[in-house]
Amino acid sequence: MIILVLIISHLIFWVNLTTSQKVTTNNNPCGQLYLTQSPKKSKNLQINWHFTCENLPDTLLLTLGDLRVNPNAQILYQINPGSVIKGFQATQIPFKNVEFPGNWTVDNDYPDLKAKCFDYYISSRRNKEIIYSQCFSIQPAWMSNFGDLRIGEMMIPGTHNSGAWQTKLPGFKNYVLNQDKNFWEQLVYGIRYFDIRIGRYGNPPQGFYINHDFVKCTELVPELQSVANFLKKSPNEVVVLNFHRFVQPRDFLEGYHLELLRVVRDIFGDLIYPYSRFMHPKGPKLREFWQSQKRVIISYRQDYFVRRNPWLWPGVQREWGNVQKLQNLENYVKTKISKPVRGNPLNALMAELTPNYRNFLQYVNTNLKDLALMVNQELSDWVIENNRSDNLNIIATDYFTGNDMINVAIDTNFRKLQRSFFY
Ligand SMILES: *[C@@H]1O[C@H](CO)[C@@H](O)[C@H](O)[C@H]1NC(C)=O
Ligand SMILES: *[C@@H]1O[C@H](CO)[C@@H](O)[C@H](O)[C@H]1NC(C)=O
Repeated sequence: MIILVLIISHLIFWVNLTTSQKVTTNNNPCGQLYLTQSPKKSKNLQINWHFTCENLPDTLLLTLGDLRVNPNAQILYQINPGSVIKGFQATQIPFKNVEFPGNWTVDNDYPDLKAKCFDYYISSRRNKEIIYSQCFSIQPAWMSNFGDLRIGEMMIPGTHNSGAWQTKLPGFKNYVLNQDKNFWEQLVYGIRYFDIRIGRYGNPPQGFYINHDFVKCTELVPELQSVANFLKKSPNEVVVLNFHRFVQPRDFLEGYHLELLRVVRDIFGDLIYPYSRFMHPKGPKLREFWQSQKRVIISYRQDYFVRRNPWLWPGVQREWGNVQKLQNLENYVKTKISKPVRGNPLNALMAELTPNYRNFLQYVNTNLKDLALMVNQELSDWVIENNRSDNLNIIATDYFTGNDMINVAIDTNFRKLQRSFFY
C-alpha cells in the first residue's frame, strides 16, 4: 500500500514537473554558460562560462533570438574560448531600458506568469553543432514550482541594501548605490528577499525613506506598494522584507517605529504571514503561504516590537563576513552553512565585499560597482561546486543581474524537491 502511494505520488511529481511551466534547469552537458549585465553605466551584456566537459565548445555566440529555433538569428558577438575553461567576457552590447517580456509593467493587470526570455541568447557550438543555448530571462513566478519546500530550506535569491538603487546625493553614486533596479524590477527578475534600512525625514508616510546608512535613497511607500502589487499579480510568490536597521535620525524613537509599523500594516494588511513560535524550525511550506493567501514576511530587527506585534518575524540572521578581500569572501561563502537562529527559520548570507569604513580614504576609493563585478563573476562557482548551495537559504548580493543566483536558486530548489521526494 505504502509502496503504491509512493509510486503514485512519484508519478504525480514527475507529471507536475513536466506540465508546470519550465522555469530553468541547467541541462548544459558542458558546465556553465550564462549571460549577465554589467553594473556600469553602459549596462553591457557579459558572457560567463565554466566548462567541465571533455570536448570543449569551439565558439560562443551572443544572438538576438534563439539559434536553435532560428538558425539565422542575428549574431551580436562571437568568441572562441580556445582552451580557456573558465572565463568572463564583457561585450559592447548595451542592455538598457529594455522592456520586460510578458507584459510585466506595473499597471498591466494580466502579465504572463511563465518564465520569459529577453531577446538575448548565449549559445555554445562545436563543429557547427549547437551544444547549449540559454536566454537572459525573468522569473516572475518561479516559486510556484516549490509548494512542498519549506521557506527555511529553500535557496532564495535576495539583494543587499535593496533600496539603494537611486540617490539624490550628487557625485557619490558609485559609493552609495548597491543596486540599479527598483523593487518592482527586482521582483520580476526573481528576487524574493529585501534588505531595508529606514530613515525618517518629516511626517510619514512620505517621510520614510530607504537609506544606505546616513544617505537617503528611495522613498519607502512606493517600493512597498510595488511589492503588494506584484504579490497580487503573481499568486504563488512569497516575499521577505527584512527591516534591518533604523538609521536616521540616530535616535529612532519608539513613536517612529509605531508610525513605520502602521505604514507597513496599511499597505500589506491581510497579505502578512504572521510569525508563530510553534512553527516548524524550517518554517512553513510554500503551500501553506498559498493556502492562507498570506505571502509577505515582515521581519523586524527590534525584539521589543516583535514581542508586541504577533505579525512581525524576528530579524533575519545576516551572515556577514565583513571582508575586504575576494579570497576571504570565497573562504567565507564556501564554509557557510545556514541554520535557523533564535526561532527564525530564515538566514541570509551576505555575499559582498565591504569597504573598510574606518579608513575614509580607502572608503571613497572603493567603487561598489567594481567590488560587485569582482564578486558576481565568482559566486556561481563558489556555490555550485559540491552542491554547496544545498546549505544556503537566502543569498543577498549587490547588482544582482551581474550574477546568476536566481537561476542557481531555482536549480537548487528543484534538486531539493527531488530529494524530499525520494527520502
Ligand atoms: C499583453 O496584454 C495584452 C492586453 O493588455 C494582451 O492582448 C497580450 O496578449 C498580452 N501579452 C502577453 C504576452 O501576455
Ligand atoms: C549533487 O546533487 C545531485 C542530485 O541530488 C547528486 O546527483 C550529485 O551527486 C551531487 N553532487 C555532489 C558533488 O555531491
